[in-house]
Amino acid sequence: MDAKIISSRIGFSNLPESYVRQESERPRLSEVSTCENIPVIDLGGEDRSQIIQQVGDACKNYGFFQVINHGVSLEAVAKMVAVGHEFFRLPVEEKLKVYSDDPTKTMRLSTSFNFNKEKVHNWRDFLRLHCYPLHKYVPEWPSNPPSFKQIVSNYCREVRELGCRLEELISESLGLKKEEIKNALGEQEQHMAVNYYPPCPEPELTYGLPAHTDPNLLTILFQDLGVEGLQVLKGDNWVAVHPHPNAFVINIGDQLQALSNGKYKSVWHRAIVNANQARMSVASFFCPSYHAVIRASKTLTDDGSGAIYRDFTYEEYYNKFWSRKLDQDHCLEHFKQQ
Ligand code: OGA
Ligand code: NI
Repeated sequence: MDAKIISSRIGFSNLPESYVRQESERPRLSEVSTCENIPVIDLGGEDRSQIIQQVGDACKNYGFFQVINHGVSLEAVAKMVAVGHEFFRLPVEEKLKVYSDDPTKTMRLSTSFNFNKEKVHNWRDFLRLHCYPLHKYVPEWPSNPPSFKQIVSNYCREVRELGCRLEELISESLGLKKEEIKNALGEQEQHMAVNYYPPCPEPELTYGLPAHTDPNLLTILFQDLGVEGLQVLKGDNWVAVHPHPNAFVINIGDQLQALSNGKYKSVWHRAIVNANQARMSVASFFCPSYHAVIRASKTLTDDGSGAIYRDFTYEEYYNKFWSRKLDQDHCLEHFKQQ
């Protein structure tokens, strides 16, 4: 099994066969646009209505944006990043203690996306944790590095506050009451993926993560400042997201597309790898409670357009998502009204 964890293997000179994409599915890195960038929004400004406007424009036009002056302390982020790197540097025997390919586990180290379901693998290891409520999940988290639990709990708490704030801004940007989106979701879950992409011998032939949309409501992603990798689909073009100092990347997930009745899109994105440097990202996923029924806000369907998607619970959606390969069709397509 240790052969699967790519962060513990060194000295690849070729990409192993099971990671090589067929020609038509490769990332075509030379065609990626690097001159455009997604919007950067300053959350520290005084003018709330201006921030709401910027958030609404970004959600409509990109589905992605970056935020600065977001209230999460630089210290919490720096410690999270350091302990994440420390975790992936642990000896393989240590990492194997928490390894699993079972997506129903609430804490696991794994690799690629859905190792047993997919034909071609992805150049990524990831540590996945459930993070809310903390007292329920922290006991099962890794106890090595010894500071892991304390540092990651603190990071989760701070990021949750940002998530709540963003949900309010997004709700208002749709013309809804500040609390409406939050109230529609029940007691929200929070999951984390610490993604680790080791240097890859042939980055043109594979992905860290192939094109996908996020199944949750909202994602708050921290990416290494010095190592690019995240790309977003805009129209027909892939656009590189240049890491902005002290920023988080925010993206709309499938649940917000459903709640907004398609006004805001859960946009395709992917992570590519490179030959020289390992890259780490820390994704915090905000998810409706499992039993929350997801349906478009009445305010957004009252114009007679009707709801695009049928009602469903998040539990039903999440099970569907993990039963698929990552880069199939948009999972929400399966939930359209007949
Ligand atoms: C994800 C994701 C992108 C990245 O974890 O869902 O899209 O840059 N990550 O790691
Ligand atoms: Ni994603």
